Formats: sequence, C-alpha cells, structure tokens
Amino acid sequence: MFYRPQDGHGLPHNPFNALVTPRPIGWISTTGPQGDNLAPYSFFNAVAYVPPQVMFASTGAKDSLANLQDTGVFAVNIVAAQMLEQMSATSAALPRGTDEFAAAGVAKATCTTIACPRVADAPATLECQVTQVLALKGENNFLILGEVTGIHLKEDCLVDGRFDPARYQPLARMGYRDYAIVRDTFEHLRPDDQR
Ligand SMILES: Cc1cc2nc3c(=O)[nH]c(=O)nc-3n(C[C@H](O)[C@H](O)[C@H](O)COP(=O)(O)O)c2cc1C
Repeated sequence: MFYRPQDGHGLPHNPFNALVTPRPIGWISTTGPQGDNLAPYSFFNAVAYVPPQVMFASTGAKDSLANLQDTGVFAVNIVAAQMLEQMSATSAALPRGTDEFAAAGVAKATCTTIACPRVADAPATLECQVTQVLALKGENNFLILGEVTGIHLKEDCLVDGRFDPARYQPLARMGYRDYAIVRDTFEHLRPDDQR
C-alpha cells in the first residue's frame, strides 16, 4: 500500500511509529519548581561524539520540556528489560508536580555535573546540559538537544572494559504497544577495521 500522511492511512492504528523501530528509550529525568519528574521518550537518540550530544522529541508540551526549559538540564537514563513495568508506569499522565520516581517506586540518586535527579539503578545515565530546543512543524512538537557532561555506568555492566548489553538487556520500543528486548548481538567488522 501507499498513503500520503495528510490523507490518512485507513488502517485500525497509525503505522508510523511501527516503521522506525526498534527505538531506544530515553528515560528522561528532570526537576523544576514543582519537584522531580521522570518519563520515557522513544523519539530519542545519540547525535554526536565530540562533544557527546543526544536528542529527544516531545510531542506535546509536557512536564519534562517545561522543567528542562526552566533549569537548562536533563538526564537520560538507559532502560533495562527488567525495568519495563516501572518505566511504563512513569508514562502515566499524572498531575504536574507528581514525582514519578515515588509514584513508580524508582530509586533516585543525584547527578554529579548537573542539578537533576537520576535513576539510581539504571545501567547508564547521561547527564545533559540543554543546548537547543527547536520548535518542529505542527502543533507542540519540540526537539530537545543536549550536551552530555557526565556519564554514569553501572559497575556490573562493565565486562572486560566494555559496556555489555548482556548484563542488562536493553529495552526498545516497537510500534503500537509492542517492545523488544535486545538479547541477540554479534560483532561484524567494517571494511576499514584493522584486526
Ligand atoms: C515507551 C514509551 C515511549 C514514549 N515516547 C515518547 C516520545 O518520544 N515523545 C513523547 O512526547 N512522549 C512519549 N511517550 C509518552 C510520554 O512518556 C508521556 O506523555 C508522559 O506522560 C510524559 O511525561 P511528562 O509530562 O512528565 O514529561 C512515550 C511513552 C512510552 C511508554
């Protein structure tokens, strides 16, 4: 089939978010005048190495966006498969000022380089300074870009000097209400790699 988004897809559910998959989930922690906040965002990725930078997109004027516009900082917590229920609980539309760490029973720790909470048990956390908030086409679509100023790695995820996904099993977002757990990984060298 072919369709133009502006004409509609004619399917029971919008297939768009099932096309670009699997997507990593940035579990975004922020703080603001009304307290700490935690919510998952799968329009998330790394975008540069030096300095390291990440992006995520808010489809709607959400609490995470309001907080990071206020403070200039946010943290990205990486989600292990076993954190599915807690991560999902933090996506609930709770009243502004509700601390999702407490509501979902997620242990909190403090960041080192920014004044922001983080998920204590996350396999990794990226502490970020906001560099840009871009208004995207459409109503209330925003792209948030941040520079990573501190990185926490859970000690038991480091194996022989490498951050090992087998130790935490990354959780990824598929389309609809589907998820994937990354269990099957392999190495494949590039043409220019030297052994
Ligand atoms: C796995 C998952 C991924 C999500 N990805 C996004 C996303 O990329 N952008 C977005 O605006 N909302 C996304 N949501 C919905 C938000 O998490 C939800 O609107 C949440 O209430 C926002 O919280 P906040 O207002 O505290 O920031 C996602 C939800 C789930 C469960």
